[in-house]
Amino acid sequence: MMRKTDIVIIGSGASALQTAKILAEKFQVDIVTKNHLKNGSSYKAQGGIAAVTSDEDSIQLHVQDTLSAGVYHHQPDNVHTLVEEGKKTVHQLIKENFQADRALDGSISLGLEGAHSRPRIIHAGGDATGQALVNYLLDSLPEKVTIHEYELAYELLLNEDGECIGVKTKSKEGKTTTYLASYVIIATGGAGALYEYTSNCPDSFGDGIALSYIAGAEIADMEFVQFHPSLIYKDGQTHGLVSEAVRGAGGFFADEEGNRLMEGVHPLGDLAPRHVTAYEMYKHRAKGREVYIDISNIEHFEEKFPTITNICKEQGIDLSKQRIPIAPGSHFLMGGIISDVYGRTSIPRLLAVGETACTGVHGANRLASNSLLECITFGKLMAENLLCNGTRQHNFTRISNEKKLVNLPTLMDPKTLQKEMFRNAGIVREKQGLSELLAKLPSYRDIAAVDLDAMDRSAIEQLFMHITASLIVQGALIREESRGSHIRSDFPSMKEDWNNKWIVFKQRNYHV
Ligand code: SIN
Repeated sequence: MMRKTDIVIIGSGASALQTAKILAEKFQVDIVTKNHLKNGSSYKAQGGIAAVTSDEDSIQLHVQDTLSAGVYHHQPDNVHTLVEEGKKTVHQLIKENFQADRALDGSISLGLEGAHSRPRIIHAGGDATGQALVNYLLDSLPEKVTIHEYELAYELLLNEDGECIGVKTKSKEGKTTTYLASYVIIATGGAGALYEYTSNCPDSFGDGIALSYIAGAEIADMEFVQFHPSLIYKDGQTHGLVSEAVRGAGGFFADEEGNRLMEGVHPLGDLAPRHVTAYEMYKHRAKGREVYIDISNIEHFEEKFPTITNICKEQGIDLSKQRIPIAPGSHFLMGGIISDVYGRTSIPRLLAVGETACTGVHGANRLASNSLLECITFGKLMAENLLCNGTRQHNFTRISNEKKLVNLPTLMDPKTLQKEMFRNAGIVREKQGLSELLAKLPSYRDIAAVDLDAMDRSAIEQLFMHITASLIVQGALIREESRGSHIRSDFPSMKEDWNNKWIVFKQRNYHV
C-alpha cells in the first residue's frame, strides 16, 4: 500500500505528539508507531518536567546544573535554548491548562531531583507526569492527525538529491506500507531495552537510530547511556522506577541494615548526579549486597507516589517495611541522531526529536527531568520552524536500492544480547569485554547487504537491536576516558582535550 501525506512522524511519545499538535495547523500529519499509542518511555515517566518557574530559580542556575550533571560535554548554546525556550513552553502548557500538581496555596508544587540546585520539577498525578502529559497532548491533538498503530518503520526512502522522501513500514501481519512525505520525523525514543535491566519499555531498541544510520545519517555520543540507580528489583528482575523524586522528598539509599550508602561519597549525597549514584549501587550489588530506597522519612508515601506504590503492590513488595529493593538499570540514551534544535539532521528533510536525537543538551549524563522538557520544547521549535519555513517536496523518485538477502549476519537472541550489553557495555566498561562483544555484532558491511523487505518484523527488530548495540559498543571502545555515564575501568580519568568532541558514526566511517 502507498500513502502520500505532508509529514510522517515515527513514534508516539511526548515529542511526537507535541510536534504533531502544532504541525497539524497547516499540514496533513501521519503518526506511525510500532506498538500501541501509549507504549513508550514518555508515558512511563514519573518524576516530571524541569523548568524555571519560581522566583528563587533562574535560567543561569538551570543551565549550570545541566552542564555540571553532564560533565561539560555539551553544545552549550543548545543547552541555553533548551532552558530558555523550555521555560516559555512550560508556562504556555500550564496556561493552556495542563493539570500540574499544586500546593495548598495554589502555587505549582515543585519537586527536587538529583543534581538540581533548586526545586524546579513540575509534576502531575504525583509520580504520573508522563502519563498526564501524553494524555493531555493526545486530547489536544487535532483530528487532521492520522495515527497508525502497530506499524514498524523499517526503511527510510531517499531521492537522487539525497533527501528523505518517506518511509516503509510493516504491520504485525507483515503488510508493507510506503509513506511518501515532504518531511519524515524520527521520534522513536531511546534504546534502554538493549540492556537486561531497564526502566524503558521492553521494545525500546533504538529503531529510529538504526534506520537513520542505515540511510546515512550522522550518529553521535552513543557511548553515553544513563543508568538510573533505583529500578524496583524483585526476583532477579526490574519493574519500573523508584523516581528520584522519592529521594527529593526524603528517601535515601540504604543497605540491608539500614545504613545510608551515599554518605561521604558526594557532596550532594542521595541527590548526586545519576552516574554517581548508579555506580555506587552497582558496586554494592557487585559485592553481593542488596540495596534499597529507605522511605521511612516520607509521610503519606502512597498518596504522593501512587505509581510506585502500585508497582510495589503488583510485585508483592511490602511497603510497611519502609524500604523498596532496587537495582540500577539503563534509563536514557544521551546520544543519537545528530540534530540541531530544529531537529534538522545530516539528511535533508529527515528530522529527529526527543531522546532519539543528539543535540548535545544532555552531555555525558542527562540532568533529571530534562527529558520531557526536551520533548515538548524541541518538538515545539521544530514544528514552528516547519510551519514558517517548510517547503513541499516534488521529487519523489527513489534512488534504486537493490539488495540481496545473501549475507544475513548471525544474530544473538534478544535476551543473550541484553545480558551481554549489561555485562560488557553497562555501568562499567573495559577494552577486553567491549572488544569481545563487538566481535559478536554485525559490521556495517553485513547490514548494508541485508534486504529488509524480505525479513519479518521480529527479525528486523533483532537486527536493529544489534545495529544500535554496535554503535554503543564502538563508541565505548573509542572513548578512552571516563566521563559522566561512560565509566571505563581501564581509563578511570577524564581527558581534558576531548572535552567537547563527539564520536560521530556515518555508515562505515567514524570521526572524532
Ligand atoms: C525519575 O523520576 O527518577 C526519572 C526522571 C527522569 O528520568 O528525568
